[in-house]
Amino acid sequence: MFIPVYEPFLNGNEKKYVDDCLDTSWISSKGKYVNLFEQKFAEYTGAAHAVGVSNGTVAIHLALAALGIGPGDEVLVPTLTYIASVNPIMYLGATPVFVDSTVDNWQLDLSDLESKITAKTKAVVAVHLYGNVCDMDRLVSICRSHNLLLVEDCAEALGSTWNGRHVGTFGDIGCFSFFGNKTVTTGEGGMVITCDGELAKRLASLKGQGVSQTRYYWHDVIGYNFRMTNIEAAIGLAQLEQIEEIMVRKRRIAEYYKDEFAKRALPLSVLWETEHVHNCMWLPTIRLNDATRRDSLMADLKEKHDVETRPAFYPVHTMPMYVKYAAGKKFPGAEQLSYAGMNLPGFPGMTAEQLERVADALARELK
Ligand SMILES: Cc1ncc(COP(=O)(O)O)c(C=O)c1O
Repeated sequence: MFIPVYEPFLNGNEKKYVDDCLDTSWISSKGKYVNLFEQKFAEYTGAAHAVGVSNGTVAIHLALAALGIGPGDEVLVPTLTYIASVNPIMYLGATPVFVDSTVDNWQLDLSDLESKITAKTKAVVAVHLYGNVCDMDRLVSICRSHNLLLVEDCAEALGSTWNGRHVGTFGDIGCFSFFGNKTVTTGEGGMVITCDGELAKRLASLKGQGVSQTRYYWHDVIGYNFRMTNIEAAIGLAQLEQIEEIMVRKRRIAEYYKDEFAKRALPLSVLWETEHVHNCMWLPTIRLNDATRRDSLMADLKEKHDVETRPAFYPVHTMPMYVKYAAGKKFPGAEQLSYAGMNLPGFPGMTAEQLERVADALARELK
């Protein structure tokens, strides 16, 4: 039986709340669930404001737009990330400046980041990759001393904390994704959070075509349609009600792999939480000691064992449209992690038998 990398955990009020949307005909972006989901999300993360949007990519786009990022601005961003952390910088005509990653924690290499700050640097998009968290004490201090705006890409890190404080609440704006493989899913969907009331108003305005709050069908600024639907928010609310259970299940999976791989002395290391961090354990992530085995291992797991895995993200600076932004630069940490890294199945509904099958398959193929 096929074991996928991920499948959502829809075991709560999802159907009941969606039926309510259908029964009352509130299926578009107005309706009670959008506000309710935003409120509960702000409460959960400890942010003052939360604004629902249509996916995680537009969350980052909206955040950068609300902060006034545009042509001539340089934005620091890790090269080891999903492409959506970088594309919004380009949508706004700004310039991405790629930063290497630290092998120990898979996050931004802050010494490399600091060395790349110039007079044009306006912002940092810090990605909390695979549920782990950047060193927020040092990053916030760097941003303060260089007067840089900070956007946190928390797409993979809902529930992760630094010294007990939720990711997304350190920077000016935190961005989340609710794609189907995320800890909380709405199918497609996203959220931006902020503790700044003025910024929250700008985010809400830009997300809804820049419509005036005081004059019907009047638009003050050029905005976007980045709205979340009531149906998505209904699913999100039901998901958020179960987040503690989802996180407990994910941690159990991560702990199983960690203990089992150590017991079997497999030639790999498991991404674990580093000091000050509580990792939400979004998706089990490993790094093989021998990167040259990664692709054949993934193929064998699929073909011989019916186990799906996925490669770690390719460094964005190696993709054709971004090569020119990294000319002459080296990213040894990101490249090492990328080429040796992979994600294993880790969905909340995974059974003990499925976990054992994955561990057995890995052990057999890595012998
Ligand atoms: C690190 C990171 N940033 C941004 C996104 C974009 O989110 P979405 O797919 O909802 O647009 C994702 C996820 O897909 C992600 O993993």
